[in-house]
Amino acid sequence: MMDISQVTKAVDEVMQLRRSVRGFLSTPIPRQMIEDILRVSSKAPSGSNIQPWKVYVLSGAKKQEITNAVLEIFNDPEKNLQHRPEYIYYPKNWTEPFLSRRRKVGYDLYALAGIERGEHQKMHQLHAKNYEFFGAPVALMLTIPRVMEQGSWLDYGMFVQNILIAATARGLASCPQAAFISYHKVITEILEIPEDEQYVMSISLGYEDTSVTVNQLVTERAELNDFVKFFDEN
Ligand SMILES: Cc1cc2nc3c(=O)[nH]c(=O)nc-3n(C[C@H](O)[C@H](O)[C@H](O)COP(=O)(O)O)c2cc1C
Repeated sequence: MMDISQVTKAVDEVMQLRRSVRGFLSTPIPRQMIEDILRVSSKAPSGSNIQPWKVYVLSGAKKQEITNAVLEIFNDPEKNLQHRPEYIYYPKNWTEPFLSRRRKVGYDLYALAGIERGEHQKMHQLHAKNYEFFGAPVALMLTIPRVMEQGSWLDYGMFVQNILIAATARGLASCPQAAFISYHKVITEILEIPEDEQYVMSISLGYEDTSVTVNQLVTERAELNDFVKFFDEN
């Protein structure tokens, strides 16, 4: 029989343990563990149980091919201008409190990396680590069928969060990444993604390299009062 208080403790703890890690050891992840994570994550709910997700699991040469191709573009401003995302991730017009939150994460990361205001080359180099999957041995590249509408992206988020939680529960570190969305054409070509699928995002997976200073980043969350409104029972 399951002891529910133990489950509560464990689930809450895993949710609080999960964080985005931006420096991994090269230690490989056993194939069985990746399969277990994806199998249990596919228990995520989806409207009418349509399960609108597909995962490309990369390691070794294929992952390196993506890194090389994307970095060649990212490091060449003229080439980079020709690559645009297929969907818009962030708001066009930033408002508060979202702008301040976004800036805080950026400034905190730069501070940990020893980057000062205006050091654009160093910022570029830090951002480039996204395209090396921060040294992670495994990259998950995720696609959604193009026929899907906005609603299925809700399902997708739940699937992704399940992956992050299942990984954390196994002692793995992870980083969800939208950084690749500008390079969907390159990704589609290298992974031979069919035309009826749209690249959504990636997840870097592996064991944390605790010697990487940016992994000390602690992100804050708003207080309950800032995002919850209770209506009284009476
Ligand atoms: C869909 C999604 C895309 C993200 N893309 C990136 C990314 O490209 N690069 C990166 O370093 N972090 C990325 N993040 C991580 C966020 O910056 C991070 O979740 C946020 O700052 C909160 O920190 P935490 O995940 O450590 O709790 C992404 C997160 C999500 C959910």
